[in-house]
Amino acid sequence: MIRPLTTQNILAIESSCDETAVALLRGEGDAAQLVADRIASQIDLHARFGGVVPELASRAHMRILPTMVREVMDSAGWVWDDLDAVAVTAGPGLMGALLVGVSFARGLAAAKKIPLLPIHHLEGHLLAAGLDGALPPFPFVSLLVSGGNTLLVRVDGVGHYRLLGQTLDDAAGECFDKCARALGLAYPGGPAIAKAAQRGDGRRFALPRPMLRKPNLNFSFSGLKTAVAYLLRDQPELRNDPQGVADVAAGVEVAIAEVLAVKALAACREHGCRALVIAGGVAANHRLRQELARRCHVVGVGLHLPQGHHCTDNAAMIAYAAWHRLRLGLPIPPRDSWDARARWPIEELTIDD
Ligand code: KG4
Repeated sequence: MIRPLTTQNILAIESSCDETAVALLRGEGDAAQLVADRIASQIDLHARFGGVVPELASRAHMRILPTMVREVMDSAGWVWDDLDAVAVTAGPGLMGALLVGVSFARGLAAAKKIPLLPIHHLEGHLLAAGLDGALPPFPFVSLLVSGGNTLLVRVDGVGHYRLLGQTLDDAAGECFDKCARALGLAYPGGPAIAKAAQRGDGRRFALPRPMLRKPNLNFSFSGLKTAVAYLLRDQPELRNDPQGVADVAAGVEVAIAEVLAVKALAACREHGCRALVIAGGVAANHRLRQELARRCHVVGVGLHLPQGHHCTDNAAMIAYAAWHRLRLGLPIPPRDSWDARARWPIEELTIDD
C-alpha cells in the first residue's frame, strides 16, 4: 500500500491498440490538472487492411513512443526528476502493443525508482468523464462502446465496478466497421457510416434491433451485420446507388443507437442510478448522443459526455485513473508481480471493502 501524497506528477502511457498516447497530470490534493495530452492515431497505417494489424501496431508504437514521451516532457518543461509515478495501460488489449508501453514504463519507473501503476484500460474509460468536469455522483452507469467492447458497468466508486451487461458477439463499433465494409465505405466504419447516414432515411429498410426486448442488459450485434449482408446480397444494386448506401447506413446507425440507448436507460432504472456516462469511440456518434440525450431528458437522468478525444483511446484517462488510485491509497501491485494482460475482466478490479 502506498501512502497518499498531496502532490503527484504522473506520466501515463497508453498503447493497448492503435493509438500511441502520452499524458502528464499533476494532482494536488483533491484536484487534478492535465498538463499534457498527446495522441498519435495509426488509422492511416491500418486503413488499407480494413482493420488493425497487431504486428504493425506494435512496431508503430515502438517507433513513436520514446520520441513522444520526450516531446511531451519538453512541452511541459518537466524533467525526469519531476515525476512521482508512471502509469501505463497494462490490459486488456493487443499483447504486443501493450508490451511496448509496459516495457517502456517499467524501465522508466525502475530507473527513477518511482511507483509504477498498471492501469486497466476500461477503468480509464469509466472514469474519463472526470477529465472534462467533475465525475457524476456515485453510483452511475457507464456505457462503454468501442471497436472491441460494448459494456454496461455500474460504477459504485473508484475501484468498485459491477458488470451489468455486455455484447455476446460483435461490439457496436465492430458492427459499424463490418457494415461499412459491406457497403464499400472507408475504415474506420463508424465515422464513414455516420457521414453517409446524414443523407439517408433510416426507416427505408427494416433492420433488426437485436436483444432489444430481452429482459437483460446484454447486447448482440452480429445479427444486424448479417441482416445488412443479406440485404446487400438480395439487392446488390444498392451498393452502387449513393442514396441506397445512405439509407442502409442510416438504418444501421438508427438501430445501433436505439438498442444502446434503451439498454443504457434500463440499466439506470434497474440500478437506481441518476447519471449515465458514455465512453469509447462509438460515443462520438451524434445520433447516439441525441438518442441518449432525448431519453435521459424524459426520465430525468443526467447524461455525461466526455469530449471526443477523451472518448477514444487516450493516456489522459490512464493518468487520471492512476491519480485516483494514488489519492485513495488503493493497493499497487509490486513491479515484478504483474505483466501485460491481453484479457483482464473488469470485475477483477473490484476491491473488497
Ligand atoms: O475506442 P476506440 O477509438 O478504439 C478501439 O476500440 O480500439 O473505438 C473505435 C471504434 C471503431 O469501431 C469506430 O468505427 C468507432 O469506434 N467510431 C464510431 C464513430 N467514431 C468512431 N462509431 C460510430 N460513429 C462515430 N462517429
